[in-house]
Amino acid sequence: MRLMFVTSEAYPLAKTGGLGDVSRALPAALQRQGADVRVVMPAYPRALVQLRDPKVVAPLDPAFGIGDGILITGMFPDCDLPVYMVSSATLFGRAGGLYQDDAGNDWADNALRFAFLSKVAADLALGQTPVSWLPNVVHANDWHTGLVPLFIARHDGPRPHTVFTTHNMAFQGNFERQQVPDLGTAAGADFEFYGKISYLKAGLRYADRVTTVSPTYAREILSPECGFGFEGVLAARGPDFSGILNGIDETIWNPATDRFLPAHYGARDTSGKHVCKRELQRELELPIAPDVPLIGFVSRLTEQKMADTLIEALPWIAASGAQLAVVGEGDSAIEAALIEAAEKNPAVLAATIGYDEALAHKLHAGSDILLAPARFEPCGLTQLYALRYGTLPVVRNTGGLADTVVDTNNLTICERTASGFVFNDPTSDDMVSALSRALALYHEPLRWQLVQLQAMTREFGWDRSAGAYMELYRKVTGAAAKNGEKREGGEMAALRAAG
Ligand code: ADP
Ligand code: GLC
Repeated sequence: MRLMFVTSEAYPLAKTGGLGDVSRALPAALQRQGADVRVVMPAYPRALVQLRDPKVVAPLDPAFGIGDGILITGMFPDCDLPVYMVSSATLFGRAGGLYQDDAGNDWADNALRFAFLSKVAADLALGQTPVSWLPNVVHANDWHTGLVPLFIARHDGPRPHTVFTTHNMAFQGNFERQQVPDLGTAAGADFEFYGKISYLKAGLRYADRVTTVSPTYAREILSPECGFGFEGVLAARGPDFSGILNGIDETIWNPATDRFLPAHYGARDTSGKHVCKRELQRELELPIAPDVPLIGFVSRLTEQKMADTLIEALPWIAASGAQLAVVGEGDSAIEAALIEAAEKNPAVLAATIGYDEALAHKLHAGSDILLAPARFEPCGLTQLYALRYGTLPVVRNTGGLADTVVDTNNLTICERTASGFVFNDPTSDDMVSALSRALALYHEPLRWQLVQLQAMTREFGWDRSAGAYMELYRKVTGAAAKNGEKREGGEMAALRAAG
């Protein structure tokens, strides 16, 4: 299986959230299962400097008026995963965020930037560049690469099969027509969304198969409440749409080896976790108190993540006898409220505003409880990391959170399935009641340790999910071969020989 994985971010080259984690972990897991995988992503300056063995492949043909494109190849800095980087000083060579400027405004040319990325990826996959490697399957992710399946589907002649994964239906890449480059004659006809051009819709409609990142979210987004207007488009895909749960990259998120931690530990011996807690309290200038429960919050500070509800709950948390450590960035009003609350109450709350990978690891290890609520959550990775690190998660009963955390009660403790605390309504009251159950259990050390052990030994590695993707790739290539569709065999060989 030759797989091209197209993404706008991949850790450690570039990351703003879970997509970055998945875009490294899943290709690496597929590689372990024998697939020949190559990642395609933009050459952001911070990504390019990390590339191992970089080589210029060729200048790219001008597209959409962009004439300074160059294709560069190399390896991830810390694993043997090959990557093609799409370089353009005009589109990707700037300082600032991946999608936004430093003030938090979306780049005005995002429609052009990601149309160009998608065009180059499609050309690569179709053998229209000097690269001779041709994939059987192209797997595109989120709206940034939604045009890849469209460009490939429109190609006359042999083509690879396409899979498109939506990691979050709230991010749709909807643009005014005048922002979008000329995509060809029928542009927009069937991927318009309320008068705009939707890159997400292009991916959902044109890919041979569509997936999302947990089974529960896959069901939820078929409903008007969670589908963000795309429930009909998804329903129309019928059995070609499914949910596959994300996993943990255990080479990066493992308390026994995590390079960011001051001490290591595992399920059998958690003494290193106490050291992590002490060092975290010291670093964040919280009182060093081994017996005071420490609640961590590692998240984008947005409504999706109920960060507004966290602000509402701060007085309760401050009075609860626990400490709270937050690392996050996002909504400026929420950031300001957190800073103000931390200044008022430095013995209880430490708020670090910004993106800090090392601190995120230290918080997962040093906290006792991870608060990871959400109004909706396609999968969520932080609760998985928390489980692995023996930091019991408090989550809402939605999406991937519902699929991965089992609420703690007498029955689930006896059945040895309890792994965290789950609440139903997206309200401060419901969240606080789950938090208070967590704090109560914390003061019962034996029961706490039992649940902690159950959490740490749950199996959330990527191998099972990577197996499910492999099966999907095989199905899509196999089904097409049966129907005599698309390219394989002779046509494919001819294309490769030409490359
Ligand atoms: P989402 O992708 O919706 O933000 P996930 O739980 O899937 O949520 O993934 C979030 C990822 O981003 C995790 O790896 C988490 O540790 C990381 N993360 C979130 N906020 C920060 C931050 N402020 N600093 C460092 N890492 C962060
Ligand atoms: C998105 C979702 C998150 C998911 C991540 C990786 O950012 O919000 O739930 O874990 O993608 O798939």
